[in-house]
Amino acid sequence: MARILTGVQSTGIPHLGNMLGAIIPAIQMAENSNNESYLFIADLHSLTQIKDPKELKYNTLTTAAAWLACGLDTSKTVFYRQSDVCQTTELSWYLQCFFPYQRLTLAHSFKDKSNTVEQVNSGLFNYPLLMAADILLYDADIVPVGKDQIQHIEITRDVANRLNHQMGSTLIIPEARVVKDKQIVPGIDGQKMSKSKKNIISVFEGTKTLQKQIMSIKTDSKGVNEPKDPDNCTVFNLYSLVENQKEIEALKTQYISGSIGYGDAKKLLSQSLLKKFRKQINRFHYFMNHQEEVESLLQQGSSKARKVANKTLGRVRQKLGYSS
Ligand code: AMP
Ligand code: TRP
Repeated sequence: MARILTGVQSTGIPHLGNMLGAIIPAIQMAENSNNESYLFIADLHSLTQIKDPKELKYNTLTTAAAWLACGLDTSKTVFYRQSDVCQTTELSWYLQCFFPYQRLTLAHSFKDKSNTVEQVNSGLFNYPLLMAADILLYDADIVPVGKDQIQHIEITRDVANRLNHQMGSTLIIPEARVVKDKQIVPGIDGQKMSKSKKNIISVFEGTKTLQKQIMSIKTDSKGVNEPKDPDNCTVFNLYSLVENQKEIEALKTQYISGSIGYGDAKKLLSQSLLKKFRKQINRFHYFMNHQEEVESLLQQGSSKARKVANKTLGRVRQKLGYSS
């Protein structure tokens, strides 16, 4: 049995791209496997960029509510908040003392971020070693991540090997499992949906917002009765990501024969999203109105996580001579 662990950034209410590209596949993977699964909200990493306590807290809440709404089963997955496990920052310090400064200066994510964010703090620089602690603290075997995170896993393996080499076998060396962007969900401008591009579609922000976002999807200017190309239409592409084959074929026929206008196709898409995610939307509102329940689930998860973390940290402390 392998231990699978991954972290999600708490960047606010997840959009349709996050749901179809990350949340739903991750939940399915946890359900289908016989492995142990750990999932946490990386709110300590968020502090590198967000300093407003209310915003940090709200982002954690909405992220947790969305995962729970999409069906995350806390009896199968240890679901916790990174900041509830202070052992993480202790291990991160030890790792920093085993990793050459020069190597960290080569991290792509730091180079990219330090060119764009306003405040380049040391936390941003040390980000990969906090991530290494997240992983090593739980003796994780497999870490599912997107392509952009591979270098962080390499750093994690590297620092664990360095510590093991000097102190004797102490930490488990994890492996990355690269989650291919199976489907890039397009935003309202046809580009990859992304919060920073302001092109998102959000099912959790109310029916009106959803309908408004869908109505502003860019299309060509073909009239109602003109034949249309389904493959080059964002409305149709999104519809294909959520509907079943029969409905997709029906809309395709209408596009090709010129018997539907973009306005009506957009209405169909809104209805389809609202229908498909009705349960998740209701559950999201439920959790947003029962924040104490989300809090309690996270605390139960954090308490399980801390037990595992304490064991690993005990091993490391002993090797370093901090406890006998
Ligand atoms: P982000 O909000 O960009 O940090 O992404 C969080 C997760 O959602 C990552 O696993 C991404 O791969 C996934 N994701 C974000 N945007 C999209 C998109 N437009 N299509 C598919 N997956 C996405
Ligand atoms: N850095 C990851 C991201 O931006 C989030 C993350 C933090 C993470 N700690 C982790 C992912 C540990 C996997 C394992 O998406």
